[in-house]
Amino acid sequence: MNKEYELVDHTYDVVVVGAGGAGLRATLGLVEAGLSTACITKVFPTRSHTVAAQGGISAALGNMGEDDWRWHMYDTVKGSDWLGDQDAIAFMCKEATSAVLELERYGIPFSRTTDGKIYQRAFGGMTTHFGEGIAQRTCAAADRTGHAMLHTLYQQSIKNRAEFFIEFFALELIMEQGRCRGLIALEMATGKLHRFRTHKVILATGGHGRTYFSCTAAHTCTGDGSGMALRAGLPLQDMEFVQFHPTGIYGVGCLITEGARGEGGYLTNSDGERFMEKYAPNTKDLASRDVVSRSITIEILEGRGIGENKDKMNLNLQHLDPKVIDERLPGIAETARIFAGVDVTKEPIPIIPTVHYNMGGIPTNVDTEAITKNQEGNIEVVAGLMAVGEGASVSVHGANRLGSNSLLDLVIFGRAAARQCADTISANQKHSNLPAEASERIIAKFDKIRFADGGKPTAEIRNEMQLIMQNHAGVFRTEKTLKKGIEKLATTLESFNAVSVSDKGLIWNTDLIETFELENLLGQAMITMQCALKREETRGAHARDDFPERDDENWLKHSLGWLNDDNTTRIDSQPVKLDTRTDEIESIPLKTRVY
Ligand code: FUM
Repeated sequence: MNKEYELVDHTYDVVVVGAGGAGLRATLGLVEAGLSTACITKVFPTRSHTVAAQGGISAALGNMGEDDWRWHMYDTVKGSDWLGDQDAIAFMCKEATSAVLELERYGIPFSRTTDGKIYQRAFGGMTTHFGEGIAQRTCAAADRTGHAMLHTLYQQSIKNRAEFFIEFFALELIMEQGRCRGLIALEMATGKLHRFRTHKVILATGGHGRTYFSCTAAHTCTGDGSGMALRAGLPLQDMEFVQFHPTGIYGVGCLITEGARGEGGYLTNSDGERFMEKYAPNTKDLASRDVVSRSITIEILEGRGIGENKDKMNLNLQHLDPKVIDERLPGIAETARIFAGVDVTKEPIPIIPTVHYNMGGIPTNVDTEAITKNQEGNIEVVAGLMAVGEGASVSVHGANRLGSNSLLDLVIFGRAAARQCADTISANQKHSNLPAEASERIIAKFDKIRFADGGKPTAEIRNEMQLIMQNHAGVFRTEKTLKKGIEKLATTLESFNAVSVSDKGLIWNTDLIETFELENLLGQAMITMQCALKREETRGAHARDDFPERDDENWLKHSLGWLNDDNTTRIDSQPVKLDTRTDEIESIPLKTRVY
């Protein structure tokens, strides 16, 4: 063992990595169940990216009109372009109402109707009667729902004496014969390494939006858990599905919630035309995000964009009652003023589709256990490893996520992970010793990167990767753009061997942390690009200009991608689950989508 590094040992029943909505909901459930739990997080919990979620959390409460969880399920399957697993979707939509009422009891300050119920707004793709009417299903705390959720879950976790390891960066999983036994993390303030031994690691590390140049995701969204899983020899699923949110502020990428259109906002082009009426005659501005983002991109490509470069669209809120802005959309009014210099009561907001969400991630079953495909071609559980939230692919979002289903996914599967642990682990169950060799290997690698001196700064490699992803794996893709992108990305990945970390210290070494984050991003970028090339169809957020139709005969399956040590990839697949596992609704049959 390298003597320079002090290794601090810890033992817990369960270790959660990440303190966003999913990580905190899991942590809270675990401590409530009496399991000793460590929650490791690289940022202060209430600064996790869930804090940026604006519009709300979906649940068929029916506070604003009739609703039914089966309609919610139908919308989610349709929204996923039939790639979502229907057992997981049925479970999520059915549990949604109890989970949201539980959040209310925990203390989330939801906006209210005049009779005191939780306020619900319309959101894209959310309908009643299996596509007939518009549902108001998205429960909102003004346009700061994620903020309210994160604070409430953190406060409840503290109240229940959860143990937090804050500003700890998870470096690698400790694996032994295919089983996850724990992990090693860096305490950023001191440079000490901490080794966690546990029965289960729950990865709740979020998405990897920062593989792209322009995104609504925080700079911290580097998919660290998925990066660790890849290096542990595990696959990622459906990585080609990257959601572009239709309304990021032009030039800066900040999110303008879909709730703005839910409250009556609409999009126009340079002719002042409400162009969504021609692309989605039924749902118009509230069509699902893949549809709206593609429509905007087509308008721009056909020369009807706004401004000197004709490369943006207008989002109009000027006609709304200022009271609606004050009460329901105060956050985006402020964001538009600061980042676009726009007073939303007087002028439109310039917007452009911006990377917002990763549908793909660590594949799991409905009990949130990580799964892989073994050498015999069978799907098996990865013992000791679970995943929840945006970094997981359970898969409730399939090829495209509906707005406000993300906060729901976090709490439903965060809670399910805690339940699964409570059902399978007894408090203080005996642990066996950790394999020494695994820790030595992780520390040697840590030391190697810390002292890397190859001449190429981390920021330069990251910038290259982000531009390649933006230009070659954007809203529309073709074999040609993807192949070129892969060629360039391979060179960029290779150049990581020549990375330079200029700060060799251990105390608050942000250069070093960003280098580990970059390593995590690079692997995910390559799997994204390779899966996008392989999938020769258009489905959900994956729009192939050269294969414009959905191809259920050949592609009704999840992609699985592994990263080899030499940065080559292996791509395989597993079937989509069409069985709902409940008698209360049959599976939603395949249909051509009408918007
Ligand atoms: O538009 C929004 O408020 C984003 C919500 C979501 O991604 O679920």
